[in-house]
Amino acid sequence: MLIGAKKGSPLILGVGENEYILASDAAAIVEHTTQAIYLADNEMVTVGPDGFHTKTIGNVTVGKDLQQIEFSLEQIELGSFQHHMLKEIFEQPKSLITCMGGRIDRRNHGIRLGGIASYLRDLTRTRRLIMAACGTAFHAGLVGEFLFEQLARIPAETEYASEFRYRNPIIEDRTVVIAISQSGETLDTLAAVEEAKERGARVLGVVNVVGSSIARATDAGIYLHAGPEIGVASTKAFTAQVAVLTMLAIELGRRKHISSDEADRHIEELSQIPDKISTILTQSDQIKEIAAANINKDNWLFLGRGFNYPVALEGALKLKEISYIHAEGLPAAEMKHGPIALIADGMPAVFIATAGPQYDKIMGNIAEVRARGGKIIAIATEGDQNIAQHADHLITIPDAPEFLQPMLAVVPLQLLAYHAAVLRGQDVDKPRNLAKSVTVE
Ligand code: M6R
Repeated sequence: MLIGAKKGSPLILGVGENEYILASDAAAIVEHTTQAIYLADNEMVTVGPDGFHTKTIGNVTVGKDLQQIEFSLEQIELGSFQHHMLKEIFEQPKSLITCMGGRIDRRNHGIRLGGIASYLRDLTRTRRLIMAACGTAFHAGLVGEFLFEQLARIPAETEYASEFRYRNPIIEDRTVVIAISQSGETLDTLAAVEEAKERGARVLGVVNVVGSSIARATDAGIYLHAGPEIGVASTKAFTAQVAVLTMLAIELGRRKHISSDEADRHIEELSQIPDKISTILTQSDQIKEIAAANINKDNWLFLGRGFNYPVALEGALKLKEISYIHAEGLPAAEMKHGPIALIADGMPAVFIATAGPQYDKIMGNIAEVRARGGKIIAIATEGDQNIAQHADHLITIPDAPEFLQPMLAVVPLQLLAYHAAVLRGQDVDKPRNLAKSVTVE
């Protein structure tokens, strides 16, 4: 007899032909079966020669439906790629098309978000929006702050889920909490969801893994539909999280104050993002050369402003978690308040210096770092004739409105981190000390 019991961490039972498999993640069993049951906390399953039986820890029988695992083996195989991370970076045009595909509704000048349809009218009356998340998902939430404030004019803030739950959060009437998580199993984020619910907030999920703990614990949600993400470094989940938050912000804005014409323009620009990412991906070899030229540097800076400040944080996280190079991400204007002291000869400073209202300011920041001996790697907008003379290395991305730039600007940073890690001989998909789903506090 085989017994599995769940408390906290995820547990599923794969049901194959004359075989049963206990695992924490569907990806582990899809090679053997696509049928599974998902256990809830305080439930157990016993498996014996005559099949399986589910009950509570207190020995009360519970009925469980078999569920179909929604992805295929092909989706989790490497194919022609050397690593899952690289495969997932290159999958982004496709994962974004899947994420946005059925949701963009041109005929009605809007966006259809089935999972939260019945909440949308209420959401337009939101007084305060709090996003809770960890790691890369937290960075997506930071982009979300700008999106909700600028497009929907709703006050928004993003909290580390691990901090939110312990800060005695103030949840007032019409506060909405959005939990963002690729895995849907991150314990800190799940605990933040429980805390918010207990305090009476409406809690929505922006989650990738269908049927995961956070997806089930929230009142409603929007799935990313990005496909399984295997690499520990999150890549395609980030762009899908930002795409979902963008769609929600546009739709709320449209229902509140944006004209149909303006919404149409936003939606049109949004639907061009997958193609624009494809053009960035063609620069992978050139980005590898930039990584190689700086591979012996042990300290890097990532700097951006406005919508691209969270992208700078994400670029630094990507580099440190897989290449073990120390990196810091900062809003560029913060440099003068201390970190500029770090700049020494040849220190790589990656600037997101794309076209937009803060372009002149960021050029000023580039000049400050360059004057102190920093080496400038600039992410700029195609056609920028000025920036080449101010940068040691240049990577260009297609033009896009400022609010859509994070989904583009992050891609070269993902590639830079990937190539740096490979050049340093690190295990890109399984970096040391890290797990894909962090199901402990
Ligand atoms: O599954 P989640 O999105 O909740 O995971 C959150 C973080 O653990 C995750 O983003 C982590 O920071 C990644 N390793 C970043 O690449």
